[in-house]
Parts: sequence; C-alpha cells; structure tokens
Amino acid sequence: MILVCGGAGYIGSHMCRLLRQKGIPHVALDNLERGHEEALPGTPLLRADLRDPAALESIFAEHAFTTVMHFAAYIEVGESTKNPAGFWENNVHAVWNLLEAMRRHGLNQFVFSSTAAVYGEPERVPIPEDHPKNPTSPYGNTKLTVERMLGDYSDTYGLRSVCLRYFNACGSDPDGILGEAHDPETHLIPRVLLAAAGRGEVKVFGEDYNTPDGTCIRDYVHVCDLADAHLLAIRHLEGGGATDQYNLGSGTGFSVRQVIDAAKEVTGIDFPIGTAPRRAGDPARLIADSTKARTELGWNPLYTDVRTCVQHAWDWMLSHPNGYKS
Ligand code: UFG
Repeated sequence: MILVCGGAGYIGSHMCRLLRQKGIPHVALDNLERGHEEALPGTPLLRADLRDPAALESIFAEHAFTTVMHFAAYIEVGESTKNPAGFWENNVHAVWNLLEAMRRHGLNQFVFSSTAAVYGEPERVPIPEDHPKNPTSPYGNTKLTVERMLGDYSDTYGLRSVCLRYFNACGSDPDGILGEAHDPETHLIPRVLLAAAGRGEVKVFGEDYNTPDGTCIRDYVHVCDLADAHLLAIRHLEGGGATDQYNLGSGTGFSVRQVIDAAKEVTGIDFPIGTAPRRAGDPARLIADSTKARTELGWNPLYTDVRTCVQHAWDWMLSHPNGYKS
C-alpha cells in the first residue's frame, strides 16, 4: 500500500490517477488546504495534516504502508519570500514528522518532490544533478534542506529515498478529468490560457534577458511524464535501489514568447499581451539535463513538445472553466 501525501494537489492527483490505472493499492493523504477532493475519483482520501504528529501516528498505526510519497508542500517562490516561517513549517518540519512516523513503523522507502529551485541561478545549462546548489528563495532552501535531511536518514537509519527535481511542471491528463487548479494562479501556461479565454491579462516578466528573444527560457515537463517518473522511482526503491536524486525535465527550453505563440496557435485566439519588468529571482535559462533519470530509471517522457502541454491544459480549461468547482 502506497501513501500519497498531497494526493489531492496538482501533481499528486496525477500520481493517484496513474496508480489507479496500474491497479496499485494506494491512499491519498491531504488536508485539502490547497488540494481538491474532486481530483481523487476512485482513490481513498485520508483528511489529515502532516503538521499534526498525532494524526500521522494513528494513520500509520491503521495502515500497512510500503512506500510513502510526498507532494504536500507550498510551492510558490514569491509566497515563500513573504512567509518563510510557514514554508519551513509545512515544507520541512512536516516532512520530519512524516519521516519520524515512518521510522517508528519500520518503513524505509520515500519518494520526494524536489525542484530545480535547489540549483538557484545556474552556472551552466543544461543542468546536471551535481551542479552546485545555491537556492535563491526560502522555497528552494526548504526543498534542499529536506534533500539533506533525507541523506542523513538514509545514511543513519537506512531510510532510502528518491528526490525528483522537477523543472516547470505543466499540462494535464489527456482524458480531461484532472488539471491545474491553483488559487491564485501564478504559473505561465495557465495564466496565458486564462488571458486567451478573456479572463485576465498576462504580462511578460522581462524582455531584456540574454536569450534569443529576450524572454526567460524554461524546461516544461508534462505532469503525466512526472507521474511516470515517480512510478519508476518506486520500482527503483522496491528493487533495493539506493538513495538518489534525479532531474526531471524534457531537456528542451522554450521562451515565454514561444509559450505565448504556442497558446495562440492551440487556441486559435490572438489575445493581447502586456509587458512588465523582470520578476525578482528569475534566472534567464533553466533547462534540465535528465540523462540520469533516462538511463538509470528508464524514464522516457512522452510529451516533450510544449504545444502538447498547452493543448492539454487548454482542453482542461475549456471543460472546467472554474477548475474543480465546474
Ligand atoms: N512568467 C511571465 N508572466 C507570468 C508568469 C510567468 O512572464 O504571468 C514567466 C516567468 O517570469 C518565468 C516563466 O514565465 O520566466 C515561468 O514562470 P512560472 O511562474 O510558470 O514558473 P517558474 O519558472 O517561476 O517556477 C517553476 C515552479 C517552481 C519552481 C521553479 C524552479 O513553479 O515551483 O520552477 O525554478 F521553484
């Protein structure tokens, strides 16, 4: 039985969908602070908060878990600069609670959602896993801290883990049942599509970067490809694999302007675009070197063209104009 913490969130719900498709027994744990119960059709939900050790203890006492997955974090870089205390509590202290519950119950397999934000401003792209780690935000600091905590738990307690460093997660399941539903929405692709739908304005943050069209380049990775990588991480741990870290990106960079052009092509709508100064802390280029995930885990991402990601996100927005409240 797999425990999916944060299973009602964007990436966690796509993970639960994959586990359902594969017939793998699992339960989701979510406090529904930011997740959506509707994102878990067919997956049992335990409503609990990882910041509550007593709730965790009773859940671990009742279920025989084999592997624990952790998606239950705060994710907005900007929010983390305003509320670092909340990020350290939810993204670090809550994970410590979880690892301690695992230790008490003799569990030793953990899959962790990490991020490209652990690298900070890259010295070179594409970025391999051994690139220096210099996070530039409280968010990145919390994720790197958990990676280090997991290293210590592995060395001393034999609690093995896989950290998956996502680049820019995007898209949604092609069946149109699940999608991205953040409030507020800050990510580029959904914001551009909201603008296409006439529901808000999108601004390009900075056109003076040292890139071919002057806008930031990112590596967009489809959420279903991310879920596939997590399943491979579980297999790695089940096969006795060691604690390790893997980048997850398509390996191709797309600029903000290219994403906007893709959205215009997919939607067939020519919507207005605003401009704004650079957003603090945005590196010019973030592109993953995911060779390690491909060769060691056997990861083979299917949706490497950003247009497909935009298409799936647009399909979700059309069928769910108000997100899960539709
Ligand atoms: N952007 C705009 N206008 C917008 C929104 C975004 O121009 O309205 C630009 C950003 O400046 C950036 C690019 O679009 O250049 C992508 O921005 P997102 O906010 O979609 O994503 P980020 O690259 O900032 O963040 C993502 C994840 C974080 C993670 C980070 C890793 O969402 O969780 O990658 O560096 F930390």
